[in-house]
Amino acid sequence: MQPNASSWLRRKDIDQVTVHEEGRRLVPTLGWPHLVALGIGAIVGTGIYTLIGVAANLAGPAVLISFLVAGIVCACAALAYAEMATLMPAAGSAYTYSYTVLGESIAWVVGWSLILEYTLVVSTVAVGWSGYAVGFLHGLGVDLPMALTVGPHAGGALNVPAIFITWVVAGALIAGTRESATVNAILVVAKLLALAVFVAIALPAFDASNLQPFMPHGFTESLGADGKKYGVMAAAAIIFFAFYGFDAISTAAEETKNPGRDLTIGIVGSMIGCTLIYMVVALAAVGAMSYTVFGQSPEPLALIMRELGHGTAAKIVAAAAVVALPTVLLAFFYGQSRIFFVMSRDGLLPHSLSKVGKRGTPVAITVFTAIVTSILAGVARLDEIAALANAGTLIAFVAVSACLLVLRKRDPQRPRVFRVPLAWLVGPVAILGCVYLFASLPTRTQQWCLLWNGFGILVYLLYARRRSLLARGSDA
Ligand code: ALA
Repeated sequence: MQPNASSWLRRKDIDQVTVHEEGRRLVPTLGWPHLVALGIGAIVGTGIYTLIGVAANLAGPAVLISFLVAGIVCACAALAYAEMATLMPAAGSAYTYSYTVLGESIAWVVGWSLILEYTLVVSTVAVGWSGYAVGFLHGLGVDLPMALTVGPHAGGALNVPAIFITWVVAGALIAGTRESATVNAILVVAKLLALAVFVAIALPAFDASNLQPFMPHGFTESLGADGKKYGVMAAAAIIFFAFYGFDAISTAAEETKNPGRDLTIGIVGSMIGCTLIYMVVALAAVGAMSYTVFGQSPEPLALIMRELGHGTAAKIVAAAAVVALPTVLLAFFYGQSRIFFVMSRDGLLPHSLSKVGKRGTPVAITVFTAIVTSILAGVARLDEIAALANAGTLIAFVAVSACLLVLRKRDPQRPRVFRVPLAWLVGPVAILGCVYLFASLPTRTQQWCLLWNGFGILVYLLYARRRSLLARGSDA
């Protein structure tokens, strides 16, 4: 039964979420090849290109197990996303599913967490891009002053390349979804080719002695002398960053021509493909060289190539990262603007934000997102913002997996285009796995995440709850 309009758990009508008034509807222009490209474009990025070093530093060669753990949890969550996205092909992903299944107050927390996720992913990837861009320019004999290439935490003043790339991508997005998605598809190929070059060179240099000791910091978290958490799970909680992005596809649901088929292929296909690629890249990296050599580098894959004596290959990998990492920015920018869009359309954020421009893209929200993310990218520390992005994502993943199970119980007869196999195993594995990963994040990250959501709940109580369209008795 639908809770009454003043209830904390009031829900949007599941049959109404794809019906919207004229002028507030996004244009359906995307097919499944666009979605797979958007998926791989969003997934393969700073995680495998840069955070592989941070994670290897925390786990040692056993980072391979960290990849496996994070991959399994993400695969389970991806399946839940696929069922929910095809059942409810509406913009807003985890937020919209939670609104129709779990109720408004939970949906608010999820939406607020998604804003945290998308914002920080954009900033993190911009910083990762900057690391490769600076290394690439150095290879060409162009050295930018250090004060302008890293934030204050690393002895600089401002990460200018990171700010620069954020605005380039925002501009591309404002120019129109379809054009951006097509360029994205070309760049995805470049990114995958570079990883193929890396594996082709690093794998033959495999030396089993690099895998010893395999698990120097144990499996569950252990506190290092620096007060940081180490171990396989601590690394899994960071490298989790490398796996998500398929959720950005589900935010494109409303703009998809044939949501049932296209979203299933897009989400599940891109997730499985990326997991396989990562396992091979990670094996090649830790086998080719001791993790202590590349663990601290801002451009670990290029460094491994150089150390193996392949300077040209290092330049190719760096160039591909520079050209192609912006696809991740593009996808998360896209997701961010649409989360804002849908929340404001529901009345939970100012309604004026949900107007779309002449090209069918929400310009005001994209510019606002660019301002915030570029400031963060200019001054923040890569591993810290990546960890906080993960915290927001984990909350969304738990919610979507819970939606899957609750709806299976509440509405088992509803036709499902895609049904998760063994849902009562997959759902709980996703939920418990995400909770375990959240517990393995740095303590400071967990505190920041709680603070962010505490602030969000205040905004909900003081503003959103009363402004909600559901509170006003309409569901446009
Ligand atoms: N999975 C994306 C990346 O690694 C966020 O950059």
